[in-house]
Formats: sequence, structure tokens, C-alpha cells
Amino acid sequence: MPVATAWLDVALMQGIMAAFFGLLLRQAWWWMIIHVLFFPLIVWFLLLQWGAWTYLLVSSVFILVFWRTITGNVPVFFSSQLVVQAVAELVEEKDIMHFAELGAGIGTVAKPLADNYPLLKVHAFENAPLLWLVNVWRSRKMFNLHAFRHCFWQVSLANYDLVFAYLSPSVMSKLGAKVRTEMRVGSLFVSSSFPVQNWEADTVIYLDDWQKTCLFCYVIKENHALEVHY
Ligand SMILES: C[S@@+](CC[C@H](N)C(=O)[O-])C[C@H]1O[C@@H](n2cnc3c(N)ncnc32)[C@H](O)[C@@H]1O
Repeated sequence: MPVATAWLDVALMQGIMAAFFGLLLRQAWWWMIIHVLFFPLIVWFLLLQWGAWTYLLVSSVFILVFWRTITGNVPVFFSSQLVVQAVAELVEEKDIMHFAELGAGIGTVAKPLADNYPLLKVHAFENAPLLWLVNVWRSRKMFNLHAFRHCFWQVSLANYDLVFAYLSPSVMSKLGAKVRTEMRVGSLFVSSSFPVQNWEADTVIYLDDWQKTCLFCYVIKENHALEVHY
């Protein structure tokens, strides 16, 4: 058997075993696809023996897109059209003037909102360089959308009427504390898919997209700034 095929077989067996343990650990179904394909794809790319610069290029693009995914605990994936529509309805219904998106990606939500509501001021915060650059390019002719390459933890939320986030369960508790400390009474925080622990949402909007997204809407009723001890 050629060495290359043998390596691919070993990699595939490793992937199948990883998927098997994934099943035992009751991981979501899409993890099985990742488990089965991850190692064989790495081996396959290595066996192709392309020029060294191609590997450098691919890894650079991955780094510029995924940036602090591992340390920040927030992966990259994008909102659906139904999410954009639902957030647009909230903007209209609540007469929102200042909107912020935390972890804006390529502007999937921020860009159409700014397009449809020229009087709405939209601030999009993203720390992955390539995603931010795409958003900068997409908003280059717009005056009401500003794409910042900032870590949203460093940004004050005091001036926004609506803050939207689609992040990950692991940051929601910390983000909830930030929101309650900084956002004005009467303003609205909307978290896509992930609720804030120990904070009951005022409204939950259920969407019929492929992810069956829920939008958890929190009206800020009191400012907790004085309760935070540093
Ligand atoms: C799940 S994606 C959501 C993208 C976009 N908001 C959407 O709904 O389509 C989360 C994004 O947050 C970004 N992100 C994670 N931590 C961040 C941080 N501390 N500051 C700024 N952006 C962050 C990631 O790079 C990623 O693009």
C-alpha cells in the first residue's frame, strides 16, 4: 500500500474514533463532521505538497478571520436574514437612534440596518482584522455605519439605545454584567441565541430560520453601576 494512502487511512480511523467518542459524549451532530474530516484534511493538504507559501497563506487567512476565537471563547458564524429582519423591526418599533453590534463580523446585521435606516447611527465592533476589513469595505460609502476594530469589552455601551450581540454562552454572564452596568435605563439589549444567565428576558423572539434562532430581549430597568466592585 502506498505510504500516502496508509497515512490517509490512519487519519480517517482517528477521525471516526473521535466522532465515536463525540457521540458517547453527546456532542452536537455537526461535531461529528468536524471530527471525521479534520485530521484527514490536514494529512491530505500535507500530501499535496504545494509550495510552502500556500500553507502560509491559508494559515494567515485563518488567523486573520478567527483571530481570538480560542482565547475569547467566541466562534465566527453569521446571523440569518430573519435575524436581520427581526432586529430591523425592533429598531423601527422602538424608534432607535443609536445602535451597536458587539462582534459584528462582516456586518451581516449592521450593514442592512444602516442601509435601510439612514438616520440610524450604527457602530459595529469587531476584533478579527479580516472580518473588520470586509465590513469597512462594505460600508465605505455609508455615513451612518462605522466599523471599529475594537474589542467590545473596552467599549462603553452608555450611548446606545439598542445593543445587539451574537456571541457564545461562555461570555454571556460577563456581558450581562457589563450591559447592566453601562447601558441607560430604558435602552434595549438583544442577544441572539444565548440568554444571559440569571436574568429573565422581557421578550423572546422565536425565528424560523435553519438555526431556529431565539432573540433574547432585555429592557434595562435600572442601572447597576453602583453595585459593581472592582
Ligand atoms: C458569532 S459571530 C457573529 C457575527 C455577526 N454579529 C453576525 O451576527 O452575523 C461573533 C463575532 O464576534 C467577534 N468577537 C468575538 N470576541 C470579540 C471581542 N472581544 N471584540 C470584538 N469582536 C469580537 C468574532 O470575531 C466574531 O466575528
